[in-house]
Parts: sequence; structure tokens; C-alpha cells
Amino acid sequence: MTNADLILKNADAMIYDSEQNKIVKKRVDIAVKNQRIFEISSSLQATSSNTLDLTGLTILPGLIDSQVHFREPGLTHKEDLETGTRAAVLGGVTSVFEMPNTTPSTTTKEAFEEKMSLAKNRAHCNYAFFLGAANENVSELENLEKLPHSPGIKIFLGASFGSLLVDDDKIFEEVMKHGRRRLTIHSEDEARMRARKHIAVEAAHPRAHHIWRDEESAMISTRKAVALAKKYQRPIHILHVSSSEEMAFLKENKDIASVEILPQFLTLSAPECYERLGTLAQQNPPIRDIRHFEKLWQAVENGTVDIIGSDHAPHTLEEKAQPYPQSPSGFPGVQTLLPIMLNHVHQGRFSLERFTALVTENPRRLFGVRNKGRIQLGYDADFTIVDLKKQNTITNKWIASKCGYTPFDGMKVTGWPTHTILKGQIIMQDDQVISAHQGEAIDFEAHA
Ligand code: DOR
Repeated sequence: MTNADLILKNADAMIYDSEQNKIVKKRVDIAVKNQRIFEISSSLQATSSNTLDLTGLTILPGLIDSQVHFREPGLTHKEDLETGTRAAVLGGVTSVFEMPNTTPSTTTKEAFEEKMSLAKNRAHCNYAFFLGAANENVSELENLEKLPHSPGIKIFLGASFGSLLVDDDKIFEEVMKHGRRRLTIHSEDEARMRARKHIAVEAAHPRAHHIWRDEESAMISTRKAVALAKKYQRPIHILHVSSSEEMAFLKENKDIASVEILPQFLTLSAPECYERLGTLAQQNPPIRDIRHFEKLWQAVENGTVDIIGSDHAPHTLEEKAQPYPQSPSGFPGVQTLLPIMLNHVHQGRFSLERFTALVTENPRRLFGVRNKGRIQLGYDADFTIVDLKKQNTITNKWIASKCGYTPFDGMKVTGWPTHTILKGQIIMQDDQVISAHQGEAIDFEAHA
């Protein structure tokens, strides 16, 4: 195989085995030609010029983070498409789906196209943009969801950050009716949270955050979403599921609802995280207590959870320093998703096969990503290469996001990304971006 553009040699790879219909770890060499996976073989002949010797390392399909907020346009003091995607590739992420709560919100074709042009020639990883559902664009949604390079429509049922909110049940039902693709949902009940806001105000400390925005707030909204999804036979995706009750309910509704979880829900818990990190641990829905923590892990293990996303949601330290509850919710995560979850793999919490499915195969399948998310012949040669044994410490200094911090600062982990590869081109190696601005718009399978 001398005419390959790149040969990845001597690594284990998490390849898709179509006979078994699952991801398996295999010692194989991979050849890339014309930006695609061209050959997978137990031993490929290498020439020095086009070969990467990856002895001791493991090749994953390029990671897809299906929930990030990159803040451009309008909020670029927090993050922009260049810095957000730089953070992504440093963290081993090759593709992101970006959220619509920017300024302006991405609720029109024009706003979507503006984002597309802002990303072109600037993004370091591949990108796709959600369209936001709003009271004003309901009748347009079935057209908007068909825009190329979009994973579909996102709806906020509870206010989080930005002005996007649909808190009227009738409009939510209209949103459900207008479109066919999987509807992606921020599920917290606005009315209950408004009625309980005094809890946060009186406590004046983020330790009350999960009490204010309690599990029932999430449950009311998720029950409503599933009932409407069933009525209209419209698949839904519930983002950042945070509670034990929702997981038990969603386990019984997998026919219509897919489920996302966040690394922070599997790593931090209340009250410890709020006492130690204050508003740096504040996000919506909130990080909850240990009762939920254990049940969330069970949901990862028993197959209720489909996807791990980061919900990368940076705010500046100055903004975070405002007194709670004026302090904004959310913190960065696109760069830390992989090392944090590899550390859980190292600690035996779950298998590398299962983790790989949650960040590659499942987002690929559920959102219909074209040609990415698998190590299989013909797929785009996007890879995330990791050293499962490398010990490292996550630090604020390593964080490329504009906000410059992570709630995981100081955390020692085992497992670290060594290379990020897009279409056969090495983008990140040894914590450095070595080839800039190579990201492209992600394609999705045609949908009627
Ligand atoms: O905590 C959050 N912050 N949750 C969200 O859903 C939105 C996000 C943001 O955009 O800041």
C-alpha cells in the first residue's frame, strides 16, 4: 500500500464490525486515500513518508460532540467559532453540533447562513448548526429543519441562557407537528421554575440551584415532551438528562426518545461541587446529588443513554462572579469531555466500546450524519487518537476557550488525546494545533 495518503500503523482501533453490528477493538492498520478510509488490514506495508507509527495508542472514530454553544455571532467576548473549535480539536473532538442561542438566535435561514459563513475557513473542526424553535418561526420549521448542514431543530422548554423559549404548550404542540426530523429538547418546566425562583434568591448561593430547578421541573417537561412525541410519532432527543426519575421514565420510552448525558453529571455531584466550585458548577439543568449520580451511571450501563455531549457553555469569570442567581449557568466542556470520560474508562466505570458508541456511532445514527462516526471502509478519515495510559492533569492553562477556565482544573486523569485527524490530515498533535482552519460543514442524510 504505497500509494495511500496516510497509513496509521500499529495501533488498536475501535472499528465498526458490520457482521456483528457493533464496535470492536482490533489491532489493525488503516490506510487513507482521497480523505476516506481506503483499507483496513491486519498489516499494511508502510513507507516512511506517509506512515504514522501509533504503537501503544488507540484509534477512535472522530468524536462528535452534539451539544456545544460557541456564542458567535453576538457573544464573542465569551467564545467564538475559532476559539471554540480550537478547544474541540485540542480535546480530540472532530465534529460539533452548535446550539442556536446566540445573538441573534438562529431562528431564520438568514441567521443560519450567517453562521455558516462565519465558520467557513475559520473552524478547526467540522461543524453543523441547530435551528432554534421560537414562537415566531413555528410555521417555517419544516423548511428550516431541511437546511443542509443542520442536525435539525432545538427547542428550549425552560429558559436557560439567551432569549429562546417556548413555554406555551399549544406552541410546543405546533412545533412538534411542523417537521419530521428528531426534535432536540432542553427539558425543564418554565412555569414550575418561575414559581420556585424565590428558593434561589433567598439562598443566594448555588448550592440551592438543584433545589430550585428540581427533578420535578425536569420530569414535568420530559413527560409532556414524550406524550406529544408519541401523539405525532415524532422522534425526540432529550438533552442533558439529569435526574434518576427521568432516566427511569425514558428507559420505557426508547422507541420515541433518545437520551443525552453530560460528563459533569457522571463526575461531579451536589453539594460538594457547589461548595468547592461555587457558580463555576452552576449549569442548567443542574448537577444533582449522589442519589441521581448513581442512577445516571446505571442508565449509561443499561443502554438508556444514547449520547454523551459536553454542553460546552462558556461564560467569562467576571460574569460567573456575579452574585447567585444573577450568575449565568453553563461552563466550558468540549475540550475536557474526552479525558474525563477516558478516566472513567480507566477506572472501570464503563468500557471503551460503550464510550465510543456514545460519542460516535450513536450521534451518527440518531442525527443521520453522513459518512462520519465510524471506522469503516469509505467513511471520512476523521480520527481521534488516544493514549489510554497517559497520566495528565487538566489545567486552566491548557483550556483554549476564551473564558480560560474549567471546573475540572487540577483533576488528574489517565487517558489523553494525542492526535486529532480530519479527512486524513493531522490537525492536533501533542497538545498543539498543527494545521489550522480545516473544519468543514457536516452533511446529513437526506430526509423527506
Ligand atoms: O447551563 C446552561 N447554559 N444550560 C443551557 O442549556 C444553556 C447554556 C448556555 O448557553 O449558557
